[in-house]
Amino acid sequence: MKEALSFDDVLLVPKYSDIESRKYIDISNKLDGNINLMLPVISSPMDTVTELAMAKAMDDYGGLGIVHRYNTIEKQSSIIKQFHMKRPPSNIGAAVGVTGDYLERALAAVNAGANIICVDVAHGHHHSVEKALKVLKEKFNDPKFLKRIGSVHLMAGNVANVEAFNDLADWGADSIRVGIGGGSICSTRIQTGHGIPTFQSIRDCSYTSRDAKIIADGGIKTNGDIVKAFAAGADFVMLGSMLAGTSETPGSIFNSKNKKYKVYRGMASKDAQDAWRGKSSAPEGVSITIPFKGSVREILDTMIGNIQSGFSYSGVKCFEELWLKAEFIKQTSAGLVESSTHIMRGK
Ligand code: XMP
Repeated sequence: MKEALSFDDVLLVPKYSDIESRKYIDISNKLDGNINLMLPVISSPMDTVTELAMAKAMDDYGGLGIVHRYNTIEKQSSIIKQFHMKRPPSNIGAAVGVTGDYLERALAAVNAGANIICVDVAHGHHHSVEKALKVLKEKFNDPKFLKRIGSVHLMAGNVANVEAFNDLADWGADSIRVGIGGGSICSTRIQTGHGIPTFQSIRDCSYTSRDAKIIADGGIKTNGDIVKAFAAGADFVMLGSMLAGTSETPGSIFNSKNKKYKVYRGMASKDAQDAWRGKSSAPEGVSITIPFKGSVREILDTMIGNIQSGFSYSGVKCFEELWLKAEFIKQTSAGLVESSTHIMRGK
C-alpha cells in the first residue's frame, strides 16, 4: 500500500543562502500568460470567506479572490461590478457549479468583469465537470467572445491525484485545485472514507506532463505549510481557515463572554446547505465559530514576509529555483513536537 504524507510529516532542509534581504525574493507566479499574481495566494469560494471586501483585499496584495456561488446570479455579478470601481488592472474570479444555470452564471460574471471562472465541485474527476469544462472552454475560445470580452481563465477542481489532474487539464482547465478532504472544516474523509493528504496530492500532481497550474487547496494551516506546498510543486495556494474570521469575510461579528467571534463553515455542512438550498442531505463539512482576527491585511503582511523567509531558508530567490533546490525530510512524532512551540509542554 502506498504511503501518503501530510504537511506535518515533513520539513524543508535549510540550505546555504547568499540572499542579503527578503526584498530580493520574488514570490510572484503566473496563473497564465495574462495573469501574474504578485502574491500566489487565492481566497476560497466559500460563503464565509470571499465576497467583495475579501476580493478587494486579495487583489490589493497581488493575490486573488474567487467570489462564491452560493447566491443569486445577480448578487454574484453585482459584487464583481462593485469590485471594478477599483482601478484596473485587477483580478477577480467567480465560482460556478456544473448543472442548472452554471453557463448563465459564468457569462453574467464575465460580463460583469470577472477574468477567472472557477468550476467548483467537491469531486472534480467527474463526467459533469468534463461536460461543463468543454462547454465553457468552447464558449471562451469563440472568436466573437474573445473579441468582446478578452480571455477568461478557467480554473477547476477539486482533484487528489495526477490521473484526475491530467483529465481536467485535457478537458480545458487552465489551473486545477488539488486536495480532497483535507480542509479544516471538511468531514469528507470521515463520512465517505475517501481522500488523500493534500501534501501528497500536490507531490503526485507535480509530476504531470500538462501545463495546467497546481493550486494546493485544503488543510493549509500555517505560513510554513504554504512554503511546503510551494516546495512540493504547487504554483498557488487556496486558503479558507487562514483568512476566515477576519473583517473582510462575509457575516457579522458577535460577542460571547467579552470575546468577538465569526462563523466559518464548510460549503457541504448542514448549516450551509440549509441556508442555500433550504434543505440538507449527507453533510460533508462542519460549521464553527472562530475568534475574530481583525483585518486580513495584517495576516497577508505577515504571510508575505514568512513566505519570503521560507524561500530564503532554502537559499532561493524565486519559484523556479525553489522547485530545483528544495529538499524535504520526513520528521518523527518527536520531531513534530519539537517543531511546534513547546515551552509550556508538561508544565
Ligand atoms: P481550509 O483548510 O483552508 O480548507 O479551511 C478550505 C477548502 O476546503 C474545501 N471545502 C470543503 N471540503 N466539505 C469538504 O469536504 C466542505 O463542506 C467544504 N467546504 C469547503 C474547499 O476546497 C476549500 O477551499
